[in-house]
Amino acid sequence: MNKTVLHHDLKNAVKNIDSFTHVRGESLYVDDVNVRQGTYHAVVFDAPKAHGIIKSLNYSKAEKLEGIIRIFTYKDIPGENQIGGIIPDETLFAEKEVHFWGQPIALIVAETEFIARQARRLIEIEIEELPVITTAKEAKAKGSFINAPRSFELGDTSEALKKCDYVFEGETFSNGQEHLYIEAQGAYAEPLENGNIKISSSTQGPTQVQKTTARVLGVGMHKIEVDVTRLGGGFGGKEDQATPWAVMAALATFHLNQSVKLILNRHDDLRMTGKRHPYEGTYKIGLNKNLKIVAFEAEYLQNSGAAADLSPAIAERTLFHATNSYFVKNVKTTVYSCKTNLPPNTAFRGFGGPQGKFVIESAIAHAASEMGVLPMEIQEANLLKENDVFSYGQIATQVEAIKAWNTAKSKFNVKDLQNEIDRFNDQNDSIKKGLALMPICFGISFTNTPMNHARALVHIYQDGSIGISTAAVEMGQGVNTKLLQIAVDFFSVDPKKVKIETTNTTRVANTSPSAASSTADLNGKALLKACEGLLSRLKTVASKALNASDEDITLDNETVYVNNKATQLTWNDLISQAMLERVSLSENAHYATPKIHFDKTKEKGHPFAYHVYGTAILTCTVDCIRGIYEFDDVKMVHDYGKSMSTGIDLGQVEGALVQGIGWMTMEEIAYNEQGKLLSNALSTYKVPDLFSVPKNIEVIPLETEGNDMAILKSKAVGEPPLMYGIGAYFAIQNAILAFNPNYTMTFNAPMTPEKVLMSLYSK
Ligand code: MTE
Ligand code: HPA
Ligand code: MOS
Repeated sequence: MNKTVLHHDLKNAVKNIDSFTHVRGESLYVDDVNVRQGTYHAVVFDAPKAHGIIKSLNYSKAEKLEGIIRIFTYKDIPGENQIGGIIPDETLFAEKEVHFWGQPIALIVAETEFIARQARRLIEIEIEELPVITTAKEAKAKGSFINAPRSFELGDTSEALKKCDYVFEGETFSNGQEHLYIEAQGAYAEPLENGNIKISSSTQGPTQVQKTTARVLGVGMHKIEVDVTRLGGGFGGKEDQATPWAVMAALATFHLNQSVKLILNRHDDLRMTGKRHPYEGTYKIGLNKNLKIVAFEAEYLQNSGAAADLSPAIAERTLFHATNSYFVKNVKTTVYSCKTNLPPNTAFRGFGGPQGKFVIESAIAHAASEMGVLPMEIQEANLLKENDVFSYGQIATQVEAIKAWNTAKSKFNVKDLQNEIDRFNDQNDSIKKGLALMPICFGISFTNTPMNHARALVHIYQDGSIGISTAAVEMGQGVNTKLLQIAVDFFSVDPKKVKIETTNTTRVANTSPSAASSTADLNGKALLKACEGLLSRLKTVASKALNASDEDITLDNETVYVNNKATQLTWNDLISQAMLERVSLSENAHYATPKIHFDKTKEKGHPFAYHVYGTAILTCTVDCIRGIYEFDDVKMVHDYGKSMSTGIDLGQVEGALVQGIGWMTMEEIAYNEQGKLLSNALSTYKVPDLFSVPKNIEVIPLETEGNDMAILKSKAVGEPPLMYGIGAYFAIQNAILAFNPNYTMTFNAPMTPEKVLMSLYSK
């Protein structure tokens, strides 16, 4: 059975504050919000073709169904029919033309969801079909793009390639990935007085929902309040794509002055929402005899889908992570965001970084096989060092790449592991094992510098209890627990006294989405500042009461100390005293990441607050008769900085790893040539389950000083470990090679059992 070998001190680890209600089934999601009497329910009518002109739309039969309230189309939009965030290229409801299968066309509002679904079947639509593009390559050939391509350059690759001892070229493909958050997309809108609307949304980006709703309704943002309790997972799928459902519910509420609930069922969600972007890549890698990568060129064709969504930002991060944790002197990378007739693809844990890393790891594996060395020898020879420069101009500091690699190699005895595997492969004909190392380096910050800010609003109530509001959205990653810890440690009060409020746009405004693994850093630092502001006022109150000076006052265990000596003054007394003296017990603080900047005209700058490093060693066993495989061990050294919560962070590492392995091995998104999603249910889309996660997962925290740009030196952990999963692809390749020496490596992920079987017997 699966097990995790613990190297983490979990004895004193703070428990996730949601675990109690999660386990009891009491945690609240959008569908659990207490609805008002008479609430209507909505279902989306979507395009049954991927591309074409709407010739006619007839919903007269649907409208006559008993219990139908009203059917809305673009004609009912009082403001703009526009939901595009980065580029205004996406309608809420299709007008004349549809661009992807599953594109919303109308909203059916009824007394019950059942009636709305029945009505949906009665809608008649006639579409004159137009040519459908489903792959990025086709789009590029036809000149179909979202925006202009972007290139990062360092040194001179064409000159450098001429002088290399070895040059290899190849092609890669990595497929998309379904987010499969357990809670599907949804929202609940309710009318307040004077035309104001409150929306409960399962979104990572409450402000984006507020702003887009205001735009579509043609009202000010102040009329729209967005509230988020928590998400049953987002994984990037609710950074941008939670918005349309919330806007639709609000649109119906706007017209009907009644509460409206819109929750997608799984089929609708799978069909209508975008996924991780599939990427087609080409690379050219030049090396010297001493295994140094001298030059790396790559072109990435991102399958963006039918509208921009976050594609340009995701494309940019692909370039930022194109050389993973390696230093390459000459780099030229170009990314094209290719417009196709798929649902707009979107953010997914790693945000284009994984797709970039897969290409250079493929290039290294390719080079190693041709040069007769192990990939790990090339990987090791090129690890990033202090003061190396990234292709985007940032100088690498506090680099942990070599330390993480060497620690993994020595603590886990890679040589012995490799020998064991070689011995096993010698002794077994029809079962083979493979090993791969996967180092990571992931930049922390939104790559779009202006997004790196957050605010916190802290109230100390007169009884000494505390309420905290920030922009952070809890989606299972444990950010609320980390925020609670910050305040509890800072004031040294009982955790029971502290409440993390829902995320609400009227309490904390103009927020960036909870994303880029930066939520705890940004919101945590804002919270610390707010706490500092409060403490400084409280110290003045205390010093007056105790006849001491401010600097001598400290708080410990709800007691005020002077010069480290306990006094009679308790936390509660102090708060009462502050009230009597009319001192404000509320504080609103703002944090914006210092130092970062990026100049898009030069494609150079210092976009990241810091980087997260680590190295994983993955081993797998392939059944060479059946083509099926299992992961035996994943052993890694991961750079948490100084973890605030080892339990939560370990959970993030495990979850991300398994999600990464799933992307690389078994999760296969399939559209047919007409742009219809074939993998439209869990019977046709396979995600990792308990039986497919690695049998042993062992994580050693890298010993490090941490980084001051991280909250309490605890580095961001949400996305980076997903990229360890890339090693899974190469571990399987190595097992196949042990069985079939004639196999020519291909870089076409996911490596499904079908593909493994074909490769085992390819000539
Ligand atoms: N973990 C859980 N349980 N659920 C999620 O939806 N999202 C991931 C990661 N871990 C996610 C998760 C993604 S895509 C990101 S960007 C980060 O969490 C966001 O949270 P953070 O900024 O607090 O790390
Ligand atoms: N990461 C995640 N989400 C984002 C980013 C990013 O860098 N930029 C905009 N949204
Ligand atoms: Mo995460 S992909 O930045 O929501």
